[in-house]
Parts: sequence; structure tokens; C-alpha cells
Amino acid sequence: MDSTTPVRTGNEDWTPDSWRNCPIRQVPSYPDEAALAAMEARLTRFPPLVFAGEARRLKTQLGLAASGQAFVLQGGDCAESFGDFTANVIRDTFRVLLQMAVVLTFGGAVPVVKLGRMAGQFAKPRSSDTETVDGVSLPSYRGDIVNGPEFSAAARLPDPKRMEFGYFQSAGTLNLLRAFASGGYADLHEVHRWNLEFVQRSPLVDRYRDLAGRIDETLSFMGACGLTSISAPQIRETDFYTSHESLLLPYEQALTRIDSTTGDHYACSAHFLWIGDRTRQLEGAHVEFMRGIKNPIGMKVGPSMEKDDLLRLMDRLDPHNEPGRLTLITRMGADKVGDKLPSLLRAVKQAGRSPVWLCDPMHGNTVSTAQKLKTRRFDSIVSELRDFFAIHDAEGTIAGGAHVEMTGQDVTECVGGARGLSETDLGSRYETFCDPRLNAEQSLELAFLLAEQLKARRAQRRTA
Ligand code: PEP
Ligand code: CO
Repeated sequence: MDSTTPVRTGNEDWTPDSWRNCPIRQVPSYPDEAALAAMEARLTRFPPLVFAGEARRLKTQLGLAASGQAFVLQGGDCAESFGDFTANVIRDTFRVLLQMAVVLTFGGAVPVVKLGRMAGQFAKPRSSDTETVDGVSLPSYRGDIVNGPEFSAAARLPDPKRMEFGYFQSAGTLNLLRAFASGGYADLHEVHRWNLEFVQRSPLVDRYRDLAGRIDETLSFMGACGLTSISAPQIRETDFYTSHESLLLPYEQALTRIDSTTGDHYACSAHFLWIGDRTRQLEGAHVEFMRGIKNPIGMKVGPSMEKDDLLRLMDRLDPHNEPGRLTLITRMGADKVGDKLPSLLRAVKQAGRSPVWLCDPMHGNTVSTAQKLKTRRFDSIVSELRDFFAIHDAEGTIAGGAHVEMTGQDVTECVGGARGLSETDLGSRYETFCDPRLNAEQSLELAFLLAEQLKARRAQRRTA
């Protein structure tokens, strides 16, 4: 694969660097441009982290989600951190995502596409370029791939060397994820056993026991029919994909490669990239970059999105309405989803388009506590998800999945859930580098609630 030769992509005026001619938001100001250019040149020679064939396979699976034949679970940290780069952190997030996926597979009776916000989720958009503490103003923290979180002038200076560290951390994370996914750790029986442990410990054991019990019976039945870890690789292994926000374009461009089998360009830093809600301007650099890569891509859709703008963006990003190409990740907030989502769904449907619709119930529900900590209420998260499903049902469109910020660790960042975490509990393990995440228990609770909902919906359809 080569990153420089121009080829036909269906976007003749697109090149991996055509974004450089467009207005751009959320760019770090690197003090040393020569060092930045040298790092970009260096990364251009590094091996791709993913293979185009994998991205195509994911796109096929997302195409199934667009028509209701699969369900997408996208989740992970708001921001991965260089300091927290350990096997345990990776393993625990992966494990909780698998646990959630098993419950959702059962509830929805469709395959669950597992997409980690992992192995590259390092760059963060910020609402302000600077942060002021006690009268001192410094550049905002933009994620570990750009600068450091500590409030000091040295840490906050954008440093291109961090891109190389980000690349190698992504490679190390991806390597472990691949080993877990295919090496036996993801065995369905193991994942189910972890879920049984979760249910036993949960204050809501009575509510979850039924669903867990049915999965148990199903696995026993399958085993009796000869479908075991030894006979069926689907039980022993799983597909797991990586994703992150496509924000730091010098890095993304440097990891873009031409796939030798198709001649198309693929961003090879992850299987799936998305455009954030702050960088989705039609004529902006991020949309320009994303329109030319052939990966499946996502776009966040917040409450300020107007339907005409959305349709124009869809024309630009997915001109041929290809199944699985475009995932719209709506993040309206529990109080706005009822007002904002229906007209967008209608307009997209009337335009004859069928994107994957995911619900991100996190980013529209961030609130500040009296102690000035960012948090999210479990109830608001559940409420936005419930409304998302109900609205899709009412509009005759497909609710394709959920996008959550979560961790496998026992943190205290979001309030509520079965343990009734309160604002005063947040101090004990508030560890996020950016937005508040669901902890392991809250994530599983959300999956159980969602599975109940998916199951009820299926029952309703059967009797309708
Ligand atoms: C995010 O997903 O972490 C994020 C910044 O989201 P949004 O672009 O929707 O605000
Ligand atoms: Co976030």
C-alpha cells in the first residue's frame, strides 16, 4: 500500500491532503511546524494498523444493522490515556463490552456488531482553546495524542512526538484485543459466566435473573445439540472492531493508505472513524477528509443539526447511499430528543436514505455538579435511549444501536444506577480524562435494560 499515488476513488477531486485547503476547526497550534512535518513523514512509512478488508467486513455488518438485521454496540473511554496503558484496563473494557453484547444479542435476537472506542481514541475537541485557573491561561488539553492533561505550560504545549506514542499504544492495544477476540478469552460460556456473577452481585438481581437464566438454558440447549466451543468457532471467537473520532487530521492523513486490491483509500488508524459534532461543517476540513476514505464512517448529530444540512452532509459523505457506509450517531439529550429526532428521521427517510442510526445517550446529558464536576445521570441516559427506540418505532425507521462512554473499571463518574451513586460519591474514583463514563456495573445494567426493551419490541411485533 502506498499513500501518495493518486487513484480514482469516485471522488476525483479528493486527495488524502485535500482537507488542507478547507477551513478547519479544533486544530492544535504546534510550535514547531518542521517537527510536525517530520513526524507526519515518519508515520506515513509505518505499517497500517488495520487492513482494508476488515473495514469492508465491518461495513457489510453495519449494512445489516441499517436494515435491522444486526445491532451495533459502540463503546469505550471518552479519551484513552497514555498513563493508563495497561493490559488490565484494555481487558476490562473489552470484557464489559462482550458481556453487554451477549445480553443484547439475546434481547434483540440479532448479531451484535462490537465496536470499541479503543486503540486510537486520543484526540478531543474542546469548547474553548484555553483553560484559565486562578488567573493563569494555558492551551486546553486536547487529548494525549496532542498534549498532556496536567495544568502546566510545558504539558499543554502540543507535541508531535505524541502522535508516534499514540500510534504504538494503538498497535499494542489492538494486538491484545485481537488476541482476546480470537484466542479463547471471548468464549461465549465464559462471558455468560461473568454475567451470572454480575447478576448475583447486583441489587437488581431479581430483575435480571430471568434474562440471565434464559441465556443459560439456551447455551445448555445449544451444547446438547453439539454446538460447543470446540465444534463452533462462533462460540469461541468474536469479531471486534476499533473506532475513534477523526479529529487530528495530520495523523489520520499519515495513516491513510491505498488498498492494493481495490485501489481505494482507507484510513488505516482504525476500522471506523467518526466526525464529531463540532467539526461537521459541510465545507470544513474534517468532512472533506472523511468523504474520500472508503471505511465505514460515522457522524455525530447533535441538537443544532438542521434537516437540510443533514441531507447535504449525507450527499457529500455517502453519495451512493451504500449500506453500512454512514452511521448517524444522534446525541440530542433526554430533554431534546423528542423534539429534534422525529423530523430528522422523516427527512432522511423521505430522501430515500438508510443510514445506520445509533443513539449516543451520553453527550447530550452532561451536567455539572455543585462541586463543578462533570457528570451524567443514569436515568437521563436510559431515558434518551428509550425515547430513541420509541421514536424510531413511531417513524418506521430502524434503531440500529447504542454508542456509550464506559469503562470496565469501578469508577464513580456517572450518578445513579442500581447502587444509587450520588453526587457526593463522585469524589472517590473520578478518573476520566474527559467526559464521565459509565462504570462496569452501570454499563451492564444499561445492557440488561436495553435487552428487555429489545425483547419486548420483538414480542410486540410478533403479535402485531
Ligand atoms: C465524544 O464522542 O467524545 C464527543 C466529543 O462527542 P460529540 O462530538 O458528540 O460532542
Ligand atoms: Co466524550
